[in-house]
Amino acid sequence: MKITVVGTGYVGLVTGACLAEMGNDVLCLDVNPEKIRVLQEGGVPIHEPGLDKIIASNVAAGRLHFTTDIDQAVAFGTAQFIAVGTPPDEDGSADLQYVLEAAKNIGRRMNEYKVVIDKSTVPVGTADKVRAAIAEELSARCAVIDYSVVSNPEFLKEGSAVDDFMKPDRIVVGADDERGITLMKALYAPFQRNHDKLVLMDVRSAELTKYAANAMLATRISFMNELALLAEKLGADIELVRRGIGSDPRIGYHFLYAGCGYGGSCFPKDVKALIRSGEEAGQTLRVLQSVEEANDAQKRVLTEKICKRFGEDLKGRHFAVWGLAFKPNTDDMREATSRVLIGDLLARGATVAAYDPVAHEEAHRVFGDAQGLELIRSQTDVLRKADALIVVTEWKEFRCPDFVELKQLLRTPVVFDGRNLYEPSELRALGFEHYPIGR
Ligand SMILES: NC(=O)c1ccc[n+]([C@@H]2O[C@H](COP(=O)([O-])OP(=O)(O)OC[C@H]3O[C@@H](n4cnc5c(N)ncnc54)[C@H](O)[C@@H]3O)[C@@H](O)[C@H]2O)c1
Repeated sequence: MKITVVGTGYVGLVTGACLAEMGNDVLCLDVNPEKIRVLQEGGVPIHEPGLDKIIASNVAAGRLHFTTDIDQAVAFGTAQFIAVGTPPDEDGSADLQYVLEAAKNIGRRMNEYKVVIDKSTVPVGTADKVRAAIAEELSARCAVIDYSVVSNPEFLKEGSAVDDFMKPDRIVVGADDERGITLMKALYAPFQRNHDKLVLMDVRSAELTKYAANAMLATRISFMNELALLAEKLGADIELVRRGIGSDPRIGYHFLYAGCGYGGSCFPKDVKALIRSGEEAGQTLRVLQSVEEANDAQKRVLTEKICKRFGEDLKGRHFAVWGLAFKPNTDDMREATSRVLIGDLLARGATVAAYDPVAHEEAHRVFGDAQGLELIRSQTDVLRKADALIVVTEWKEFRCPDFVELKQLLRTPVVFDGRNLYEPSELRALGFEHYPIGR
């Protein structure tokens, strides 16, 4: 099949590469010429495990191409995936300008039947807006051309995006016309040879399903984070509580870890957008309002612990930070807790040395020349003469450090463990002051 993917970010690039891997001819379009230049020269603009390999092999096989040429992109694919960003608008709702611009571009140029597939996370009713935007463009040039609009939300996780796309738990397709459904079934057949994973539904339900999934996951995290704060006050250990409740199959172990708050490009904005959708529909989503509030507070929990230990004024203090990305295996720092924490520490007069296995370039972009912050490309050098180590992201390489060396490098043996990576009793036995979350 000939497929165009509009938007070559975390979702679009993975979608394009994985569809090419299944033998399709894929053209990826982006309005960012720098991204396309990097891809055309054989590079990959984001860090995503396994992505570079499948891009390279499919480019070599002549099945995967990149362009900034909208005419070429619209003419190319019968299937036109829209995978552009949907950032929060000022009022928290999803900003649909990029989605609707992509739709208009298709309407302005299409000369034959197209299936337009909303892969971006978009509020209920967006497919109708996409349909209307295309209709308007067609009518402006007096063209009568058939097209389908389908909702196909994406559930991949950054850090394991290629695996998730190649072996999805489910493929949600919202469609109400047979032609669109037939194409989607054909497109996804290679991804579900073992058993049927297609969950076919109406468009509005598909749009809501994506928000419901992210909102549920964010709720689990905020719930555990609040219980962790309570556990600290009551002298209980949230890790033991997690194991105690996770064994109930109705609850399960996944996504029950207490930590220093969720970030990323999805949970924060999708929770906000769903709350806003609720307001617009006259349905207050009280649970989600609290989920968001709890998470905003949780991003400051490490700062509070640090101030409790070292005082409110941190002038003259120096801290080592492990982890800048919002989660492991990605360089994405959108809404990352590290940004809040480092901002707080610098504002209080401290200096910070930070290390992340892959997010250094992104950190340079995010922090610019922030006074007092040094980004160091060595997990051990970053520790030198620091008053404490602060662990913000649970990268695997942080799990079993050489604690003897760590103690020698730090000025004082203090560890703020924002992801509960270490056993409190073990660190105490090694002579560390250990400040985990909820333990
Ligand atoms: N990142 C994730 O883990 C994830 C997971 C599931 C769903 N989503 C959703 O997928 C969507 C995309 O997310 P992302 O993280 O890939 O975003 P991203 O910011 O990484 O990529 C979006 C890309 O779209 C491009 N773009 C914008 N307007 C364009 C246009 N008119 N034509 C062509 N390109 C255009 C931008 O230049 C950018 O490269 C969002 O709605 C997001 O909520 C993201």
